[in-house]
Amino acid sequence: MIKMKKPTAVSLNGQIESDLLKKRVKKYADLKNFFEIVDENISDDTVMYEVDMVLKENCDMQYAITTIHPLLVNGQCNMTQGHFHGDKDFGEIYQGISGKGALLLVDKEGNTTVEKVFPGSVHLIEGYVGHRTVNTSDEEALKIGCYWSKHTKGYNRQAMLDCPFTINIYLENGKEKLKQNV
Ligand code: PA5
Ligand code: MN
Repeated sequence: MIKMKKPTAVSLNGQIESDLLKKRVKKYADLKNFFEIVDENISDDTVMYEVDMVLKENCDMQYAITTIHPLLVNGQCNMTQGHFHGDKDFGEIYQGISGKGALLLVDKEGNTTVEKVFPGSVHLIEGYVGHRTVNTSDEEALKIGCYWSKHTKGYNRQAMLDCPFTINIYLENGKEKLKQNV
């Protein structure tokens, strides 16, 4: 009898089940300097966001869900650190799963643009574009699915410092406010 194998992973409602699951957690201590003003009321060990990854040996493609917790840092919306890809020839696909937020994109000329993220939104990110995701709610976690290739060769964080995002997002009276850096 031919038996069907179980899938590599089951990804439902922003939750992944898989034998191949790996977790990456970013705490406030590692992220605070990326916000405009350090917030002394947030403890260093606060988990800001989590990345649940499914990585399979000898497989070119990888899958992850990023969960960005609903937190404000002196009114500024919680966000990922952001990166360029190690190999700028390889891009990535993001898909909004739950919550609401924004995707900041910085191109090779240093121009920052913003796309709305919501359940079902799809984002094609070119390899040469730096990207960061922002949770614009202080109540609900923002979850995004990510699909990318091993050929992206990891995260280029240095390039992000050389070519930073020029827009920050705040929550004011429950409404998101986009501010241009001066
Ligand atoms: O592959 C991606 O772009 C995502 O999975 C990100 O790594 C994730 O959203 C976390 O962001 P960062 O890599 O900036 O910590
Ligand atoms: Mn990426």
